[in-house]
Amino acid sequence: MNAAIRAVVRAAIYYDFEIMGIRRGFEGLINGEFFMMDRKSVSNIIQRGGTMLKTARSDHFREADGRKLAYEQLKENEVDALITIGGDGTFRGAEVFGREFDYPIIALPGTIDNDLIGTDFTIGYDTAINTAIEAIDKIRDTAESHARLFIVEVMGRDSGLIALRTGIGAGAENVLIPDTSSNMSALFDRLENGRKDKSSRIVIVAEGEEPGTAFEIGRIVKEKYPNYDTRVSVLGHIQRGGRPSCMDRVLASRLGVAAVEALKDGRRNEMIGLVHDEVTYTPLEKAIKHHININPHFLKIVEILSL
Ligand code: F6P
Repeated sequence: MNAAIRAVVRAAIYYDFEIMGIRRGFEGLINGEFFMMDRKSVSNIIQRGGTMLKTARSDHFREADGRKLAYEQLKENEVDALITIGGDGTFRGAEVFGREFDYPIIALPGTIDNDLIGTDFTIGYDTAINTAIEAIDKIRDTAESHARLFIVEVMGRDSGLIALRTGIGAGAENVLIPDTSSNMSALFDRLENGRKDKSSRIVIVAEGEEPGTAFEIGRIVKEKYPNYDTRVSVLGHIQRGGRPSCMDRVLASRLGVAAVEALKDGRRNEMIGLVHDEVTYTPLEKAIKHHININPHFLKIVEILSL
């Protein structure tokens, strides 16, 4: 997100706009946490995880009176347009606000889950999957040395996209994702009928709607297959931080510049994305009506490669 903030600020200055930062998201917008930004305010942040603007969940912004206060703050501070960065929640808030007050908003897709319509990749996803495979490579060392089966839970809320790529990248034996229902039987089939001479097994589990799914699956596997020395590992929030990958920095930089250019060209209430390496614009109401279809071939690849 820092790389995106940097790109927005620098592009705004390049195109002769004045630019303000708002701390703590919609909550800060309601409370008037505005400050002027210049090129130096975003120096030395492209390599940092998190967001220098901080973020917060805002229940108040879900209510009409909270959004009215936010609008009044924007008027008082003479702000003519907003650029927001976030995932589903941010987009929903931005969409309602833009419609309610006929206010120009451009949104950037920032979530590790990669679950928004209108972009091939969201800002943060590449870093998250790289963090996950680095951790799983380390887990593989123990799995291999002790001949263990590890069930590793990755994040993704209700999307299996982190799990799927991480699974292929880490050479996992199975991937269990909420998007399809057949995975558990595929796992059991592998454990019963697959090669018996494997010295380790890694099963990646997408957290699903609730974290902790891996423990439940671990319990079932331990009960059903006591011969496997099974362990559970939940990667958790390490996937949301750390030095962003080069892919993420470039993506964020391109989208940040495109967001400012979009406003300059009079565009509004759209999400900027990248599809087939080209900048695209998706109406906010469409971007949040998401259901990303899993490419079934990815699951097939896991099956083929984990023989
Ligand atoms: O949406 C991003 C995400 O990291 C999900 O993958 C995860 O389910 C959730 O946020 C965790 O949120 P919190 O930090 O509030 O527990």
